[in-house]
Amino acid sequence: MREMAKLSYNGKELEIPVVEGSEKELGIDIANLRSKTGLITLDEGYVNTGSTTSAITFLDGEKGVLRYRGYPVEELAANCDFVEVCYLLIYGHLPKRQELELFRNSIRLHTMLHEDMKSFYNGFPRDAHPMAILSSVVGAMSTFYQDALDPSNPKHVNICIHRLIAKIPTIAAYSHKKSIGQPFIYPDNNLDYVENFLHMMFAVPAAKYVVDPDFVKALNLLLIVHADHEQNCSTSTVRMVGSSNANLFASIAAGICALWGPLHGGANEAVVSMLERIREDGGNVEKYVRMAKDKDNNFRLMGFGHRVYKNFDPRATIIKAACDRLLHKLNLDDPLFEIAQKLEAVALSDPYFIERKLYPNVDFYSGVIYRALGIPVQMFTVLFAMGRLPGWIAHWLEMHESPTKKICRPRQIYTGPQKLAFVPIDDR
Ligand code: CMC
Repeated sequence: MREMAKLSYNGKELEIPVVEGSEKELGIDIANLRSKTGLITLDEGYVNTGSTTSAITFLDGEKGVLRYRGYPVEELAANCDFVEVCYLLIYGHLPKRQELELFRNSIRLHTMLHEDMKSFYNGFPRDAHPMAILSSVVGAMSTFYQDALDPSNPKHVNICIHRLIAKIPTIAAYSHKKSIGQPFIYPDNNLDYVENFLHMMFAVPAAKYVVDPDFVKALNLLLIVHADHEQNCSTSTVRMVGSSNANLFASIAAGICALWGPLHGGANEAVVSMLERIREDGGNVEKYVRMAKDKDNNFRLMGFGHRVYKNFDPRATIIKAACDRLLHKLNLDDPLFEIAQKLEAVALSDPYFIERKLYPNVDFYSGVIYRALGIPVQMFTVLFAMGRLPGWIAHWLEMHESPTKKICRPRQIYTGPQKLAFVPIDDR
């Protein structure tokens, strides 16, 4: 028998079904609340609100658990490359060898951009932020690939998915080349996904570029740990936009804009700016921890804290270890990594951070790895977007395939003035 919760209001009692997830998470299903009681729920920032059921990603913020389609992210990061994880998230199972080869080949076939798309890049100012370019060009894909935009046609959707995954590294690398005034480098389909991205980012026509396998490994790992994170701000945006039956390119472009903000994916860029600032200021991490605790100061420790993780962020643990390995292997001594480690140690022993359960999140160490790979700071959030793309797509698909899909349309409690008499302009 289904368990019920009870709500009593105004002398009436309402029984509300309790929903249980496969990992024993509980929620109350308030679908009939307004029709039965006239009440709605109010939950600023959706802190207590489940917007959907989902079978894609499980995370337990108290225990620091993150699994994609049931598989722990640590195991995926150790055993798969990013393209395999894309397949898993989007199609719901680990691919057999032949399925994976077909998928890889299809992605390879779509890496080039329509030549006319390149002209967009001439219209952007040279110092344009690459996240702005990324969202614009992804949005503009719906003008170039109008042959397959129908969200209700599975063939259209599948080709859109392959085009997006294949072209996003090309779009991203071109935005970098534009910002430094170098010619665009065409994709080389003999290379694999991550190699190709590094080639388009760093090769120049005048010299041979050899892709470093350690860079490829590190970048695959970073993309995998960013690949999905259930109903975060950008994924919820993609679902929200997609719920109106907007096409996949439009929905993903909106997700990219949501990710850009410094409280979300933009935090990786903000972390490195903060670490630079601390270094220039003599490396006094205690001072910045004090500033972060001071309620009269709006400074926050970027890369610290998470809405869901209240123990540790498993992604941060994986990234910190990879960061250590990579810097060691490259024999690099990055002062920012040292400052980051000091800052983490001071914050984690401070009662303010302990009481509020604030731990380093995914963005805290990722920037240090990107720096070691030679990726400029402005591109960090673009890398996050490349990683999150399969998660966005998987959620968009899951929503469209759901028999209970509805347009997302929250309600509100109105707090403005009641009806006013109109005042003619001369009497105001
Ligand atoms: N530095 C100092 N104090 C903090 C921080 C921080 N980074 N994060 C939270 N707090 C304090 C906050 O002031 C509040 O204190 P009090 O209870 O005294 O008012 C308490 O901790 C709870 O914070 P909150 O803002 O209510 O928590 P939230 O769940 O709404 O916000 C967050 C989560 C990630 C936006 C926030 O922790 C933050 O701003 N962190 C810095 C930005 C960041 O690193 N973002 C990346 C998030 S992970 C990747 C991603 O999602 O893209």
